[in-house]
Amino acid sequence: MTDPAPLPMAEARIALSHLEGNVRRIRQWTEGKTRIMAVVKANAYGHGANRVAASLETAGISDFGVANIQEAMALRTGGGVRQQSAILAFSSPLVSQIESYLRYDIAMTLCSFEILHAAEAIAASNGKRLSVHVKTDTGMGRLGLPPAETMELLRAVRNSGNIELKGIYTHFAEGSRPDGFTALQLDRFRELVTQYESESGRTVCKHAASSGAMLCRKDSWFDMVRPGIMLYGYLPDPVMHSPVPVVPVMQLEAKVVFIKTVGTGDTVSYNRTWVAPDPRRVATIAAGYADGYPRSLSNRGSVVIGGKSFPQIGNVTMDQIMVDLGTNSDVKIGDKAILFGWEGPSADDIARITGSISYEVLCSVSNRVVRVFI
Ligand SMILES: Cc1ncc(COP(=O)(O)O)c(C=O)c1O
Repeated sequence: MTDPAPLPMAEARIALSHLEGNVRRIRQWTEGKTRIMAVVKANAYGHGANRVAASLETAGISDFGVANIQEAMALRTGGGVRQQSAILAFSSPLVSQIESYLRYDIAMTLCSFEILHAAEAIAASNGKRLSVHVKTDTGMGRLGLPPAETMELLRAVRNSGNIELKGIYTHFAEGSRPDGFTALQLDRFRELVTQYESESGRTVCKHAASSGAMLCRKDSWFDMVRPGIMLYGYLPDPVMHSPVPVVPVMQLEAKVVFIKTVGTGDTVSYNRTWVAPDPRRVATIAAGYADGYPRSLSNRGSVVIGGKSFPQIGNVTMDQIMVDLGTNSDVKIGDKAILFGWEGPSADDIARITGSISYEVLCSVSNRVVRVFI
């Protein structure tokens, strides 16, 4: 007889119906005019890449973006995506990784002549063609050659028998702001791709927009958009007005494991930063900063139990937090507390308090938190 698995103390509930609804609304917004590459890097922003990708495929997505070759291989081998679906790894590769791109049929981001020459040799010795998307730096200042040098790189790719150009792309530094720098980056990108297409007589898949630009500049859509955060139910900048309503996909929940009454002057947690002003009940909840509940929320967060909000008190510890139940709540051991999600504070609420962004809150939910797909 096998022992039944104990119930998890903390779980991240992943609502796949919310994810699919978000895709539907993004598709309505883009009017079916452009392909959608779903960005599922960083374990699909903490949500679980394989299950998320499978669900996105059901919703009609067949292009995926990940951070690097390791994530791409995990997606190919983990059953997340079908063989026909395309995967692009955004990072510039190390030479030692190039062979894996060929073996797992992953498109490589190309932004240097060194990598091009190494890739040509490796592809030739494998008797295969390597798919690449050339990335140009129009102002993000992270990866890519400036447009004029990118044009030289594109010419070299055109002359290569073993490298297949699948796309040209760039990334915006402040895509949620439609004017100013975004407009400048867009001009630079448009000029490059126009020059390439007229000189080569070929058309190529051009892509630039992540969630922000996708929302605020239709002329940034080109042939494909690359939304990440909006798939998961948040806006790139919570203050921006969004014409596309999206719903959070992740809810972080943990169990109430202990309840006590404290007296006036009693203190709670490390460094005694919370002092009871009068007698009240305090619940201990089984999730802490090792699960992804930021320590910087200490004495500043709130959780929802049974539909009511309670303040988090004392320093957040590695595995547990405490909340002030007041004097007459009916919370009991075993109840679930919602730390953030669609029924509690949002990841944006947490980010606002801690000086972060929803992206980081979502990605910080650690591996020991069980993902439950609903
Ligand atoms: C190259 C690239 N494209 C698209 C995205 C998706 O961005 P967002 O989550 O803001 O939609 C990212 C995320 O950082 C990225 O690095």
